[in-house]
Amino acid sequence: MSRRLSWIFPAALIAANLFAPLHATERRPLDVPFITTPSAIVQRMLDMGDVKAGDYLIDLGSGDGRIPIAAVGTRGAQALGVDIDPARVTEAKAYAQQAGVQDRVAFRQQDLFDTDLSRAQVITMYLFPEINMRLRPRLLDLKPGTRIVSHAFHMEDWTPDRHDVVDSRDIFLWIVPAKVTGLWSLNSAGGEPIVLRMWQQFQRIQGIAIFPGEHSIPLMNATLEGSRIRFDLHTASGVRSFSGQVQGRTMQADAADGGAWTATRYD
Ligand SMILES: C[S@@+](CC[C@H](N)C(=O)[O-])C[C@H]1O[C@@H](n2cnc3c(N)ncnc32)[C@H](O)[C@@H]1O
Repeated sequence: MSRRLSWIFPAALIAANLFAPLHATERRPLDVPFITTPSAIVQRMLDMGDVKAGDYLIDLGSGDGRIPIAAVGTRGAQALGVDIDPARVTEAKAYAQQAGVQDRVAFRQQDLFDTDLSRAQVITMYLFPEINMRLRPRLLDLKPGTRIVSHAFHMEDWTPDRHDVVDSRDIFLWIVPAKVTGLWSLNSAGGEPIVLRMWQQFQRIQGIAIFPGEHSIPLMNATLEGSRIRFDLHTASGVRSFSGQVQGRTMQADAADGGAWTATRYD
């Protein structure tokens, strides 16, 4: 082969491969390679996610299945692991069988981007930051209170609710916040309705109360954890603390809150 042809030939082969259509039997490349989470980290992830009996945990990119198997075996939860690599799914099913938990854990060969997450109380992942970021809009749309635990990688400006370091490894927990941005009418026993205007950036919230006559004051110590909201309001009769649950377009005082109050969305 001439010198010229000798480089044109491999270049043509590479080009042919790049532009060849993917056949149905070919798998797309892994978004993240298989690397395992050590067992001390698995246990701390389950602690941080408060995984317990009655919870359904989904591990996205489940590898050899160690996180779902531990969730079922050590916390009494039910679990699902999804992995795009069929070899990993076969391996995980065999480990579940060995651990005797195969009736409470399922493993599915599936792209994590196609996985229905709506049933989960807890989602675990050991992926890459850009994969976490692609998942983030879907995670933020899950039921308020859903716990998301990530080994190693963050989600940029969605700061975690908790960050632990175990054996020099980062573990992050996020609790999906309810959606509260907007205008609310706050009705508490004996008083005239007060307008609340609230803003949020993920779980961080701020707000003002607009009293009849347009006098406004900021909400103090406002926090949101899942659907649990708290704030303090300076009223004519002193500081009143509100704590309650956000349920879609309403807020309801919770049992810990002495005075009955509700809030409903205007917008
Ligand atoms: C870093 S490993 C984590 C394994 C396990 N979760 C753990 O913590 O030990 C990432 C896993 O994600 C899987 N994976 C990569 N891309 C995926 C995708 N698009 N859908 C589902 N699984 C994927 C890989 O096959 C690999 O097993």
